[in-house]
Amino acid sequence: MNDYSYLKEIDKEHSNLIKGLQLIQAHEGYVSDESIRAASDYFGIAEVEIEGVLTFYAQFKRIKPGKNKISICDGTACHIKGSKQIIEWVSSELGIKSGETDSDGIFSLETVACLGCCSLAPVMSINGKIFGKLDRKSTIKILKEYKKQ
Ligand code: FES
Repeated sequence: MNDYSYLKEIDKEHSNLIKGLQLIQAHEGYVSDESIRAASDYFGIAEVEIEGVLTFYAQFKRIKPGKNKISICDGTACHIKGSKQIIEWVSSELGIKSGETDSDGIFSLETVACLGCCSLAPVMSINGKIFGKLDRKSTIKILKEYKKQ
C-alpha cells in the first residue's frame, strides 16, 4: 500500500482534484486504481467521478509506465512522413499497442503530438532522447539496443 500523505500539500476542496491527480502522477508516474481510491477518500469524491475526469484529460496516464518510455510523434509533419507505420513497426516488435506497457515493464508506448523537432520527422523519443528520420531498419535497430540494456 502506497503512502499518499503528500496529498496533504493541497486543500481537500473538490476544485483541487485535478491538482491532486497531477501530484499523484508526479509521484507515481501514473494514476493507479489504488491512488484513485486514495484521492476519493481524500477529496470525498466518488471513484467513478474521478475515473471520468481521468478519461477526459489526456495528460493523465492510467497504465504504469515501462522502464523505457517510447513516445511516437503523430503530429502533422511526422504523420505525413509515415508515423503510422512507425507505430505499427514498434507495436509489432514489442507486442504492445499505444497506451500499453509490456508484461515485463520494460517498454511502454504512447502516441503524442508534436515533439518539437519536425525537421527530423518522423520522430520518436525514448526516455526523452529524440530519434529522427526513422525508417523500419533504424527503428528496429534502436529498439534492439534498448532491449539489450
Ligand atoms: S510533428 Fe513530429 S516532431 Fe513535430
